[in-house]
Amino acid sequence: VPISNIRNFCIIAHIDHGKSTLVDKLLQMTGTVQQREMKEQFLDNMDLERERGITIKLQAARMRYMFGNEAYCLNLIDTPGHVDFSYEVSRSLAACEGALLVVDASQGVEAQTLANVYLALENNLEIITVLNKIDLPGAEPDRVVKEIEEIVGLDCSNAMLCSAKMGIGIIEILNAIVERIPPPNDTAESPLRALIFDSYYDPYRGVIVYFRVIDGTLKKGDRIHFMASEKDYTADEIGVLSPNQLQVEELYSGEVGYLSASIRSVADARVGDTITHYGRRAENLLPGYEEATPMVFCGLFPVDADQYPELRDALEKLQLNDAALKFEPETSSAMGFGFRCGFLGLLHMEIVQERLEREYNLNLITTAPSVVYRVNCVDGDTVECSNPSILPEPGRRRSIEEPFVKIDMLTPKDYIGSLMELAQDRRGEFKEIKFISEIRASISYELPLSEMVGDFFDQLKSRSKGYASMEYTFIGYKESDLVKLDIQINGECVEPLATIVHKDKAYAVGRALTLRLKELIPRHMFKVPIQKDMTNKRDLWADGDIGTYSRRC
Ligand code: GTP
Repeated sequence: VPISNIRNFCIIAHIDHGKSTLVDKLLQMTGTVQQREMKEQFLDNMDLERERGITIKLQAARMRYMFGNEAYCLNLIDTPGHVDFSYEVSRSLAACEGALLVVDASQGVEAQTLANVYLALENNLEIITVLNKIDLPGAEPDRVVKEIEEIVGLDCSNAMLCSAKMGIGIIEILNAIVERIPPPNDTAESPLRALIFDSYYDPYRGVIVYFRVIDGTLKKGDRIHFMASEKDYTADEIGVLSPNQLQVEELYSGEVGYLSASIRSVADARVGDTITHYGRRAENLLPGYEEATPMVFCGLFPVDADQYPELRDALEKLQLNDAALKFEPETSSAMGFGFRCGFLGLLHMEIVQERLEREYNLNLITTAPSVVYRVNCVDGDTVECSNPSILPEPGRRRSIEEPFVKIDMLTPKDYIGSLMELAQDRRGEFKEIKFISEIRASISYELPLSEMVGDFFDQLKSRSKGYASMEYTFIGYKESDLVKLDIQINGECVEPLATIVHKDKAYAVGRALTLRLKELIPRHMFKVPIQKDMTNKRDLWADGDIGTYSRRC
């Protein structure tokens, strides 16, 4: 089809608001996938995703749609719904000209959705609001429209009403995509620039790269250059996703496709990188490229020490497919050999742990997640420290800084008090409260990331009976009054159990940990003293030995 008949779009939705159901219907209605070959929810094809009902990795699909007498090519680029992957989301948005904002009309707009809508607006996308689940008796499209207009300032006068489940409003959505989303610019003559929005590792063909050609033309067999990773390859195979891979000879500006070029690891084809021609290079990278920075770290140790090599192999394999996963060996006298691993956020950490246990049959012990602290030393050095055991000695430290995040919580107003209490408990600094409708409010706080790692999200859900949602963004490092909390078992420090905590909380955290250990450590015929200790305990505990618990049999 001519470029004027191409539409590139993605879908922004909160978990469970019906994105997969809607995508299934769009694929069926355009005849892209026949009913009988349709596995339920075609786009989420990872087992774990399907089981947990969440979308983790991005995928894409090309649909052919007749509008009037003309054929249109609609490229859908899927986006993951969780904040840990907001960089990936931003890159797939950058590959589109428009977005469907899908909101459950019986619930309302949620925090993560809003974060993605802001990203879409930053990328100048045309947004089509779709109110889904209008078949439900509790659907209140008018209230939801008001909320969206109130909080994002988006004009929803032409919002679409839809029931993905019943197939209502699907044709109208397809028509709106053609009519309201602009076609890509025609820059086929410019030097090639293609934006990578996803990649995955295939054991037989190497890395498969998903990209959108922004400028120029890519032919099968072309010598290509990746501008950020500075690697060169030959595009052995190129094609489109319909939604299965279908080989083609050439892809032009505006088109979405895949390529394979014997690339060994996804780290060499990072999301956000720009592909250009080896011979005729583009001048500048496409904007927005970022390196993956792990924010949360934890130690992973095999329960059975013999499984150490298997754990290493499994981490290496996962890393082939996950450029954001970082790991290095860690040893401890108490826990043996293991790895210190870095993740984008908590969900990312959970996914990796679960895959290691499930897909690689490993039985693991995980230490408490921690963030990266920045220690300013008296000699002027700055030490980045993701592992409490390498924290410089108190005498060498001048100050410790920790990462802070801004969180936005959206909640029905009955739970405002309880959620504010939660944030305050976690050293949160109140920023703003805004009523977005008579019944719901948005509350913002700034708090240390370390206070969010752990059970913050679970607490938010249980305190709001599941109705509140949240999203967070990293805002930078700030100095805090932090100390190291050591745990001694039988007089010996157990390094992997050491944590960095705020001084005011050290006593409570230490007490909780030691009491728990007392429960967990098997009974012995002798006294096992469990002691919490702080490097600068003199400040806090004059007598120095509060917190020795022992169990005697
Ligand atoms: P993730 O894959 O987790 O992002 O969820 P999703 O947003 O893709 O939601 P999904 O399509 O899996 O739908 C969530 C639930 O809502 C499922 O039980 C669907 O059957 C149901 N659902 C989706 N659309 C509709 C609708 O229009 N009406 C009703 N009543 N239920 C719907």
